[in-house]
Amino acid sequence: MAETITMEKIVSLCKRRGFIFQSSEIYGGLGSCWDYGPIGVELKRNVKNAWWKAMVEQRADVVGLDCSIMMHPDVWKASGHIESFSDPLVECKSCNQRWRADHLESDKCPACGGELGEARKFNLMFKTFMGPVEEDAAVVYLRPETAQGIFVNFENVVTTSRKRLPLGIAQIGKSFRNEITPGNFTFRTREFEQMEMEFFVKPGSDEEWYDYWSKERFNWYVGLGMNPENLRMREHEKDELAHYAKACVDVEYRFPIGWSELEGIANRADYDLQQHSKWSGKDLSYFDGQTNERFTPYVIEPSAGADRSVLAFLVDAYTEEEIEGATRVVLKFHPSLAPVKVALLPLSRNEKLTPMAREIFEKLSKSFVTDYDDTQSIGRRYRRQDEIGTPYCVTVDFDSLEDHQVTIRDRDSLAQIRLPVENLEETIKAKLAGESFGTDSLWAGARA
Ligand code: GAP
Repeated sequence: MAETITMEKIVSLCKRRGFIFQSSEIYGGLGSCWDYGPIGVELKRNVKNAWWKAMVEQRADVVGLDCSIMMHPDVWKASGHIESFSDPLVECKSCNQRWRADHLESDKCPACGGELGEARKFNLMFKTFMGPVEEDAAVVYLRPETAQGIFVNFENVVTTSRKRLPLGIAQIGKSFRNEITPGNFTFRTREFEQMEMEFFVKPGSDEEWYDYWSKERFNWYVGLGMNPENLRMREHEKDELAHYAKACVDVEYRFPIGWSELEGIANRADYDLQQHSKWSGKDLSYFDGQTNERFTPYVIEPSAGADRSVLAFLVDAYTEEEIEGATRVVLKFHPSLAPVKVALLPLSRNEKLTPMAREIFEKLSKSFVTDYDDTQSIGRRYRRQDEIGTPYCVTVDFDSLEDHQVTIRDRDSLAQIRLPVENLEETIKAKLAGESFGTDSLWAGARA
């Protein structure tokens, strides 16, 4: 149940099992910065790969891009970020703590109850200097969204990809925002990864595409196993729209901190291409050869956070089950997201078992991310695999040496069956792909 899943439980599991660590931990940590450990890095890659597959590989109308993080400073003048990408900041007159004015529930300092000063605009972009001289002319910014790299490459992509509109350009990459109040684990950080797609369409067809992408994006999360009851769509009020948006709807997830934004789908109209045309002096309009019309395309933008998605998938997969008087914690990830697909667990570290277990590992690891673990009791090893969400555990025992069969255990049903080693790979492949196969009735009946 979502109510019993606290952020503390998620943070603790992430640390314990190697999903996410505090950045620079041995130096006391760096606020709001997090590192993905050996298990977390696989999960995050799986989330990004699933997005790329659905948004780029499986579509004829979307292509990919990978732009640099630092861009010409005029990009941010044109995009409106220097002028408008700010949050209202207030400072406490007593303790000097700083707060985001629009996140405060009362007009007294949440830390000490002191009086707050006037709100002022605080720009969220990180500044740095390019080259060896620290002067105004050398100021560059770390991008606060990946989107601008796509807009400024629009013409390059259209002329080289030989694609017509509607055309999407997708990018996954780091973005940086000097958030006034980061927090809630990886939910709001100052360095994070975005998965963004700018879908360029003919003006007039924008509202239809906006509806299309809103549904498509909601369904993406559901298709990866997220419980639809933990997802909802929330249309922005006019006064919360970003400076570039004509309309925006958020996909929200029921995090332990309450319903919060997971992804935004915005109708950016022709704001960005018009602005870049104006500032760069380059005509960024599009000529439609079929209708002989020239226009500046409108843009529908589904913009998701990779880190926030990972957090939501973690929360959604988190399950506690009472089994024989003990609590089993298991992450019920969709197979395509599971960081480790199969764990090879010889019954014990024994010189007779090791060669066979190693041989099976060598074979399976060519097809799946496979873990090999022969330490501790089998019970503890199962517990670890459950907590990192491994769909299948394979045990090699002394009978295996005689009959060339192994035991495979299903994470969710806890069913165990024995099957010949030569059938193992295709069985796991079929199971991970969600296909049913001849032994399904055995799985249904058996329970560890
Ligand atoms: N290009 C549009 C854009 O950047 P946004 O709503 O500001 O829109 C899109 O950001 C997504 O990026 C958010 O829905 C969220 O998932 C993620 N995101 C934004 N700021 C973040 C932060 N400080 N920490 C983690 N993720 C963030």
